[in-house]
Amino acid sequence: MDFYRGMWYNFRVKILGIETSCDETAASVVEDGVRILSNAVVSQIDIFKEYGGVIPEVAARSHLEAMMPVVNKALSDAECSWDDIDAIAVTHAPGLLGSLLIGTLTARTLAILHDKPLYAVHHLKSHVYANWLLQDNQNGESSISDYPQFPLIALVVSGGHTQILYMKGHNQFEIVGTTNDDAVGECFDKVAKILGLPYPGGPAISEAALKGDASKYKFPHPKVSGLNFSFSGLKTAVLRAVQKEVGMPISYPSHQLKELLNEQQVADFAASFQRTAVEILVEKLEMALEKYPDVKSIVVAGGVSANEELRKILKNAFFPAPKLSGDNGAMVAAAAYYEVQSGIKPTDPYALNIYPRVSIEN
Ligand code: KG4
Ligand code: ZN
Repeated sequence: MDFYRGMWYNFRVKILGIETSCDETAASVVEDGVRILSNAVVSQIDIFKEYGGVIPEVAARSHLEAMMPVVNKALSDAECSWDDIDAIAVTHAPGLLGSLLIGTLTARTLAILHDKPLYAVHHLKSHVYANWLLQDNQNGESSISDYPQFPLIALVVSGGHTQILYMKGHNQFEIVGTTNDDAVGECFDKVAKILGLPYPGGPAISEAALKGDASKYKFPHPKVSGLNFSFSGLKTAVLRAVQKEVGMPISYPSHQLKELLNEQQVADFAASFQRTAVEILVEKLEMALEKYPDVKSIVVAGGVSANEELRKILKNAFFPAPKLSGDNGAMVAAAAYYEVQSGIKPTDPYALNIYPRVSIEN
């Protein structure tokens, strides 16, 4: 029997997942694609809060420092030695070039040193597969209703992507909608900057919005055909509304507007913006469901899937556990497990390349 298929049939498969595509250094051991044995994450948020965004060069250096301690923590938290690990999985695309390099070079070296099969995983695929990971309250037990059913629609919402995917089965991705300009997470980050809220903008806006009136400001929904998105207009609409509110002309420096806003205004802008962004996502998702009536499950994935407002509205959709919405190694291991299951062969650890911009369809 083929070793990799044997690996799937014969014993409990433990995969070490490594993720470094942006500003989280993460590693995790996952059993049978669903049970998280460990989940170590070192976030660089505190570094980038000061700058108001990620600086690729700094991110790569931080990954280099954190990488091996994070891998060792993932192994020790899972009470695993290298002998217990059946395969290594790593994000090789898309993401920041320097960040992807550190993760892939580490994974390649470890795969060669410890003689393990190596799986190279697309970042958006990993986000989608976070929805197969069991949540803490499931105690390691699961039934079929705990997992998304095919065909499914996945709404992938992160800092770099906003896409609607149609999946006929495991590892079959068709992009049926994508953004023409900014990603929704990027829009949260840019609006947060205008309002003087810290990076990353998503959690900061959600928190500020709790004390705000979501109907205070009206922002138009973009007119984009089909299932595609556009978020740059919404960011500009918020900017114009803030300028109007504080009585400043368009020429006034946008980074100084925050000094003229009081706490209530910030909260109202945050709540009104968040409501509009969520409405736009839900509108397109509903259109997708009309277009694909055979869909059995809706899956939401990526950093923005942590958003409480989105979770409240999409009650029937699958969401990852909130701590697994953002970047982590467990979702990489889960995605690789379903590659093993689909009969996808491991990659050559001596030759694995990185692809900072490649699509999930390739
Ligand atoms: O998936 P992710 O961690 O990294 C990328 O692959 O890009 O997504 C990060 C994005 C950021 O833009 C961040 O502001 C957004 O996810 N985000 C949120 C929330 N938490 C994180 N957006 C809205 N609401 C949140 N609660
Ligand atoms: Zn991500």
